Amino acid sequence: MWAYSNPVRIEFGAGAAGKLGKIIGRRRWALVTYDMPVFRGIAASIQAEAGPPSVVIDNIVTNPDVRDLALSCRQFAAAPSKPEVIVALGGGSIIDAAKVVAAAQGDFARVMNALTGGAALDGSTFTPIIAVPSTAGTGSEVTSWATVWDQESGNKYSLAHGALYPEVAIVDPQLTLGAPQGLTLATGLDALSHALESIWNVSANPISSNHAVAAAREILDVLPKLMKDLGNAELRERQARAALMAGLAFSNTKTALAHNISYDITLHAGTVHGIACSFSLPTVMRWSLGRSAACDATLRRILGDDLTVGAERLTAFLEGLGVSTRPSSYGLSPADWRALVTKASQGERGRNFIGRHDLAD
Ligand SMILES: NC(=O)c1ccc[n+]([C@@H]2O[C@H](COP(=O)([O-])OP(=O)(O)OC[C@H]3O[C@@H](n4cnc5c(N)ncnc54)[C@H](O)[C@@H]3O)[C@@H](O)[C@H]2O)c1
Ligand SMILES: [Fe+2]
Repeated sequence: MWAYSNPVRIEFGAGAAGKLGKIIGRRRWALVTYDMPVFRGIAASIQAEAGPPSVVIDNIVTNPDVRDLALSCRQFAAAPSKPEVIVALGGGSIIDAAKVVAAAQGDFARVMNALTGGAALDGSTFTPIIAVPSTAGTGSEVTSWATVWDQESGNKYSLAHGALYPEVAIVDPQLTLGAPQGLTLATGLDALSHALESIWNVSANPISSNHAVAAAREILDVLPKLMKDLGNAELRERQARAALMAGLAFSNTKTALAHNISYDITLHAGTVHGIACSFSLPTVMRWSLGRSAACDATLRRILGDDLTVGAERLTAFLEGLGVSTRPSSYGLSPADWRALVTKASQGERGRNFIGRHDLAD
């Protein structure tokens, strides 16, 4: 038995961001975005149709941290009239920050208590979100969770609640046209990681796997071309569609071991999320082989009949894009790597993994 569901309405295509004003409608809205001229310009064009936002929250740069989020929530509370909808215009960090703001309702302690003490949150109080991604990678526009970072204490939390699914995802590939090479690579590989991690996953099902196959096959083809032709609108559109499909895949499974391995690397070495969660994919894939006939069959649809060769193909793909697949490249000694993998296997995402690592515990 299995089940699949995703309640997010998706508006996709070049120029789709133009629908934002109509989708906001007559509602009072809050804007969460980056403090960057290009995004301020897009926000100005929305205002022509939807009027000015009640509040603009633009203090998040990347990897939303508890300190910054506390300020974002205070800014939301200070809006002269309470926003009825939140527009999240930016990458995964912005969409995740918007989810925290939506759940906190002006009081970040409410979210922090849920993250650290397991206090229940009442989803009926959350402000609805319209997610407008500016990167093609995280899939946060179709998932019901947000990653919250605490750099100071070295912790990473996941805020998860069914009411955090955005009301609408407006995926306009044109918004990604200005993304520089490093960001395009990292976000593209994040999406590949979401697709593959939803396959070697205890919660994989035929629908999530179909989305994952479509996404991964496309990314393996498109990303190397896109790296050489960042201004190509057609390649941007294909990558945005693939990242969205990867999002739909892992929205029902969450991620697995490669993601759990990544968090400490990002916290301690500062490696960007998309690289930290993808360099180990060939290794994690090898640990998955032979564990589940369904998983092997799904991987064959992406990487060919011989999965040992397939794992080598994945290594060559990453290395060809300049991403080292060796833990030592991320400052990890063999002992560090063993300890990290052992710890990651025991974490929530690690327990989603169907395989078993073959390092000595
Ligand atoms: N909730 C989820 O399902 C989910 C899934 C994966 C990752 N994440 C989280 O998402 C975050 C990473 O998000 P991200 O990779 O999208 O990047 P990001 O949102 O952190 O953005 C990184 C930087 O890229 C710049 N940028 C973004 N879009 C741009 C554009 N179109 N043009 C020029 N510059 C642009 C911004 O200056 C920003 O500071 C991590 O914190 C990760 O944990 C969440
Ligand atoms: Fe990710």
